[in-house]
Amino acid sequence: MGRTLAMGLARVHAPFNFFIYNPTQEKARALAHDVQGSVVPLLNQLANIDIVLIACRPQQFSQLALELKPLLKGDELIVSIMAAIPVHTLADKLGVSKIVRMMPNTPNKIGLGVNLFFFSPTVSLPERTSILNSFALFSSVFNLEKEDFLDICTAFTGSGPALIFEWARLMGEILVQRGIAAHDAHKMVNQTFLGAATLLAGQGKSPLELREEVASKGGVTVEALKVFADSGMGQIIDKATQQAYLRGKELEKLL
Ligand SMILES: NC(=O)c1ccc[n+]([C@@H]2O[C@H](COP(=O)([O-])OP(=O)(O)OC[C@H]3O[C@@H](n4cnc5c(N)ncnc54)[C@H](OP(=O)(O)O)[C@@H]3O)[C@@H](O)[C@H]2O)c1
Repeated sequence: MGRTLAMGLARVHAPFNFFIYNPTQEKARALAHDVQGSVVPLLNQLANIDIVLIACRPQQFSQLALELKPLLKGDELIVSIMAAIPVHTLADKLGVSKIVRMMPNTPNKIGLGVNLFFFSPTVSLPERTSILNSFALFSSVFNLEKEDFLDICTAFTGSGPALIFEWARLMGEILVQRGIAAHDAHKMVNQTFLGAATLLAGQGKSPLELREEVASKGGVTVEALKVFADSGMGQIIDKATQQAYLRGKELEKLL
């Protein structure tokens, strides 16, 4: 995900010079090449950095924090994309106060990402504007006023693509079970998702209005929608996203 974001920023010529550190140096070298940045071979060679984007897994952060903390001056802006690590833990473990929590998603790879932000109160307005404007050059950005909103929305936008991919996978598999060739089945479903998502994005119509355009009274679609409603589709989505949120809170305590 760190690579995806750096590539997005580089693609739109956001006003940053990139210094890339990754324990696997080939990865750092490849990314530095792609964003026309520099490799930092060892973390202790990091110097004079204004903004640090942390993109390791939450479980890897404690180790990184031990190595990174002595290298920081204290006035750097820390941008963390890690799920489940709250502002106060980032501030404590790194000894800095200016923290930005960010939650990206994988469609950033194709310039269609959603990037959520929460800024700690010590991040100045010009710093917030600079970060939001830079990411807005290649994605949809949302500035959330409460940290918990970021955790709530993570299940919908950060995890959201996986929920949609799973739905597409299941629809494809059911078509195959009913005799449609796998290649056609998956292509049909993928194209239906793409077409529906494009209608959602571009028509200025709500999901409900678009649904009603398909589901004519007495027709076939309403029967399928009735099964969704009777089976508690809304409750399933509610439960799944709540479970993801709770896992974040659980990890928050464990890490
Ligand atoms: N994937 C998503 O859709 C998504 C969405 C939203 C947020 N996120 C967040 O993004 C973060 C990364 O997720 P991912 O899916 O990109 O995981 P990933 O593919 O495992 O990437 C983690 C990267 O962190 C590097 N790393 C490990 N230890 C490090 C250290 N001490 N210092 C610096 N870098 C270190 C790893 O390098 P090595 O390969 O050398 O170990 C690897 O390149 C997670 O915190 C996750 O919560 C991911």
